[in-house]
Amino acid sequence: MKFILEHTDPQSKARAGVVKTDHGDIETPIFMPVGTAGSVKAVHQRELTYDVKAQIILGNTYHLYLRPGLDVLEKAGGLHKFNGWSKPILTDSGGYQVFSLAGTRKITEEGVLFKSHIDGSKHIFSPEGVMDIQRTIGADIIMAFDECTPYPCEFGYARNSMEMTHRWLKRCIERFDSTEGKYGYSQTLFPIVQGSVYKDLRKQSAEFIASCEREGNAIGGLSVGEPAEMMYEMTEMVTDILPKDKPRYLMGVGTPANILECIALGVDMFDCVMPTRNARNGMLFTSEGIINIRNEKWKDDFSPIDLGINSYVSSFYSKAYLRHLTISKEILAAQIASIHNLAFYLWLVGQAREKIKSGEFAAWKDQMVKKVSTRL
Ligand code: GUN
Repeated sequence: MKFILEHTDPQSKARAGVVKTDHGDIETPIFMPVGTAGSVKAVHQRELTYDVKAQIILGNTYHLYLRPGLDVLEKAGGLHKFNGWSKPILTDSGGYQVFSLAGTRKITEEGVLFKSHIDGSKHIFSPEGVMDIQRTIGADIIMAFDECTPYPCEFGYARNSMEMTHRWLKRCIERFDSTEGKYGYSQTLFPIVQGSVYKDLRKQSAEFIASCEREGNAIGGLSVGEPAEMMYEMTEMVTDILPKDKPRYLMGVGTPANILECIALGVDMFDCVMPTRNARNGMLFTSEGIINIRNEKWKDDFSPIDLGINSYVSSFYSKAYLRHLTISKEILAAQIASIHNLAFYLWLVGQAREKIKSGEFAAWKDQMVKKVSTRL
């Protein structure tokens, strides 16, 4: 993997660049649709490519390991071959999913013992095991095994957890660097900064992660219930420390406004379930603002969902028709809304990239944050 930093905005810390992988280039800033179990819910690969214009998608170690399992993924020749997505893939390490299984997991220095949400069977994730699993899944970018602390979190717990995440990282690096990709292309490992909402811990963690000199770095443990201002403060502290010549990935963020604000703070990569999950509940993000498509207001509004983002689905279907499909619980509603929301997120980061390149980002961002946060 290689990162080329093309432009830095003079009025903010926003950057435009290109991440080069063996499965193709990713133009940053970028949003990565979440495909937990190897599929972006309700969106098939052609739509992801041509309508959404996704450049990279996510998978989850926890889900893929439990189902279909490593034997099937290895026989398929890796996740790209299995799901037919030939562009880049990033897998999260399970460090987030396992920790959200409150009550059915136990954390020790060795790793995490957990019970499957599918059949209750017991499993252990260790830093070494999670590297091996992600080698078998075959994502281009794989994540270190970490603990994502909840919010709020006491200082002592956050410090001990961060220190364990750092020790786990050393073990991840040792295992990753002593193994090879199984399918003939290269993989890269991103470490994750933790430290909850404590400035001194965030600083310590960012410095440690930077000292590991990997090809890209991630920021975790944010957007877990803390106020947005706190998330921005932590993000800025960390981006100020992480190396400028490596991509920075802010995990699990966020709303369109969160993404724009964090691009301004120097973040290059984002993922979040919000566009797809909220789509399935009738919430649409558009270039004019936020729509609850179930609202009576849209009953006879035959205007397109969003003419502003150059997406086929968003221009073809009307708000009134999508409202009808949603209220009638038609499967097509989830498909149209998911494609639209993802196309909007990809449009938004694409616009940000253009504005960074033309030197207009800062003013555009302030205006756009207001627009995309308006409830229509
Ligand atoms: N997704 C959102 N936040 C996190 C985090 O802190 N760690 C991991 N592994 N995944 C995440």
